[in-house]
Parts: sequence; structure tokens; C-alpha cells
Amino acid sequence: MEKRQELYAGKAKSVYTTDAADRLVLEFRDDTSAFDGKRKQALERKGMVNNVFNAFIMERLEDAGIPTHFDKRLSATESLVKKMDMIPVECVVRNVAAGGLVKRLGVEEGTALNPPTFELFLKDDERGDPMINESLAETFGWATPEQLTRMKALTFKVNHVLKQLFAEGHLLLVDYKLEFGIHEGQVILGDEFSPDGCRLWDADTREKLDKDRFRQGLGGVIEAYEEVGRRIGITFPEA
Ligand code: CDP
Repeated sequence: MEKRQELYAGKAKSVYTTDAADRLVLEFRDDTSAFDGKRKQALERKGMVNNVFNAFIMERLEDAGIPTHFDKRLSATESLVKKMDMIPVECVVRNVAAGGLVKRLGVEEGTALNPPTFELFLKDDERGDPMINESLAETFGWATPEQLTRMKALTFKVNHVLKQLFAEGHLLLVDYKLEFGIHEGQVILGDEFSPDGCRLWDADTREKLDKDRFRQGLGGVIEAYEEVGRRIGITFPEA
């Protein structure tokens, strides 16, 4: 698989075309950003850790029957993915209250959410990824009702699979964000699943082991990501 030109560079990943028209290379960089890009820092080993983490999770999801864009890991920091048309809508499921929900609704952080909540946000950094709903998505053509139904079902199926997987590592999957796209007419999971896009707490101490360590300046960010990985059976390559 030959990597060709850079298509675009996001906040933490770069995307390259390849010699295959329907495949792209994702490069996971060390760059880390929060607050819609207002806080930025390169964290050593992060590209490798998230690439290896994401590959492991995407394979588990595929095994569980969830279609994803993931094809295979190519190197420490690169993976091959199926080319898709991205749907500009982020799907968030919450099992426990944290982050934006606590800020918006004044719910106490750590409150169990039964049933888990499902929220939609528009992918739009300039506007701070505003919350939207199915009606807005349909009216403005961001996603069809059929696509939204499928995205919601897949997002909850991911919850079922990953809550269990993380629980086996004595971790609580607090919340997470997923992005989807269309490949050969089907809605499939895109982007990445790593501690950059979810919240994971130690099941007993509730210690934060995800990107909130970066957002809140707690330090030990990559060490926490690696700890999470080790607990669910990931072996990271040596530096
Ligand atoms: O954390 P923040 O206040 O930005 O938003 P949230 O709605 O509480 O986020 C819910 C979950 O989605 C968290 O696990 C975030 O890390 C993740 N998220 C993300 O990965 N990217 C975004 N643009 C927004 C949320």
C-alpha cells in the first residue's frame, strides 16, 4: 500500500490518499488539543498509543458485528482505513454524568445515567460543536432519518460491547463520542476510539484515565492511556 499526498490534517490525525482509490492512511500524531483547539500540546508517544489502542478497539467492534472503516494497522502510528463520506454529526452516549452534561444541566458529576443518554452534536469547531437534534440534522441535510436511526443503534451497540470490555479491566466507560460515514452505501463507524474521545475512570477510585487529564492539567496523560490499554490486554510497542 503506497501512501500518496496529504488530503488534510486534523487536530490530532492526518489523512493521506493511497494508490487504492477506496483506501486512506490515517496518521496518528502526537498533537493533542482540547477546547476546540484552544489548548494544544504535543505529547510524546501519543500517536503510537492512540493508533495501537484504536486498532485494538476497532477489531473488537468488528468481531461484534459493528461495521467500521478500519482495515489494518500499518505501522506504529499509521492505519489503513476505508474511504468514506463523513456524516458531520457526532454521537455521544453517556453512562455517567461528566463534562458538558454537568456544565449544561447542573447534574452532579458521577451520577449514574439510566438509561444512558444519547446526544447529537454538529462537527463545527468554529461554533464549538453545537448540540443539535434529529430534526435539525434532517432539515439541514447533515444526515437522513434512516442514517440517524442506524447511527443511534450502532452507537448503543458499541456501548454494549465496550462497557463490558472496559469493565473486565476494572474501568468505567463514562461517556464517548463516535463519528460515522458512508462507504458503499452503508453507514459505518469512522474516526477513532481512544482515550482522546471517551471518558474512562477506575471503577473503584474513579481516577480519571482519559483526555480529562489533559483538559484539567492533571499530568500523566499518556501514562494513563497506556494503563487503560494494558488493563484491557493491549501490548504497546517499545519506544
Ligand atoms: O468534554 P466536553 O465538555 O467537550 O463534551 P462532552 O459533551 O462532555 O463530551 C462527551 C464525550 O465525548 C467525552 O468523552 C468527550 O471526550 C467526547 N467528545 C469528543 O471526543 N469530541 C468532541 N468534539 C466532543 C466530545
